[in-house]
Amino acid sequence: MLNKGLFPAAGYGTRFLPATKAMPKEMLPIVNKPLIQYGVEEAIEAGLTQIGFVSGRGKRAIEDHFDISYELEHQIAGGDKEMLLQDIRDVIDQCTFSYTRQVEMKGLGHAILTGETLIGDEPFAVILADDLCTNSDKGVLKQMVGLFNEYQCSIVAIEEVPPDQTASYGIIEGKEIQDGLFKVSNMIEKPAPEDAPTNLAIIGRYILTPDIFDIIRTVKPGADGEIQITDAICEQARKRMVLAYKFKGRRFDCGSLEGYVEATNYVYQKQHQISVE
Ligand code: UTP
Repeated sequence: MLNKGLFPAAGYGTRFLPATKAMPKEMLPIVNKPLIQYGVEEAIEAGLTQIGFVSGRGKRAIEDHFDISYELEHQIAGGDKEMLLQDIRDVIDQCTFSYTRQVEMKGLGHAILTGETLIGDEPFAVILADDLCTNSDKGVLKQMVGLFNEYQCSIVAIEEVPPDQTASYGIIEGKEIQDGLFKVSNMIEKPAPEDAPTNLAIIGRYILTPDIFDIIRTVKPGADGEIQITDAICEQARKRMVLAYKFKGRRFDCGSLEGYVEATNYVYQKQHQISVE
């Protein structure tokens, strides 16, 4: 049974400075809801109710967001603004939240290893909230949980990117075993276009089996001192099956200014039922 979701949220968010000087990137709103809440709602839809955050310095607003604010609730009770808190109340009612801190920002692989204390010896999902995913039908994580129930192995979500953008992503290589589902044979972190075996890029949704923790412990940091999760999953794929899944839906890279603005326009237009396609 998969019921744990891990949210690495310790990064500095330097691309959004000065907005992220005293506020976590994950709390930036897309219209009126913080990025991280979209991610947690996607996790709940996929059946995950034990939510863990890997946070860091200056991230306390995340904890406060997933908690009751008694003064505020009392203040708006009975008024027409009360319904604005309904979604977050539903989230709080359905989940448990736990937190651990990544003391040094040594990369996503290191952040996930830091989360081991919240996960233990169970399969779990990793959600990078700055990738906002939408689909008119099943959410991306729910699609992946369906595959996990069938294959019981680690799964990464992928999408095709323009070939000149491979240097911004982890890129997979593998054999397509069914429509949109690949058995991974290799993964390369941020290859230059001429070195990229494909244009299939890993996005911020993963399901990982717990043996990944021991593998991360053996991964050497890259030139920038960061421990890459891509290297660990690639090593896992050498030992056992790892799948890459071309998800149905749309992803916005809200870690970049352009993607953030695009997602904001998209969500606003959807909320106001303006045609978006
Ligand atoms: P990013 O590469 O987007 O880095 O991390 P960042 O620090 O958040 O943003 P920029 O590049 O400075 O603007 C991808 C995800 O991994 C988490 C981040 O919080 C984000 O969700 N992360 C990254 C960690 O939790 N710890 C790390 O050491 C690195």
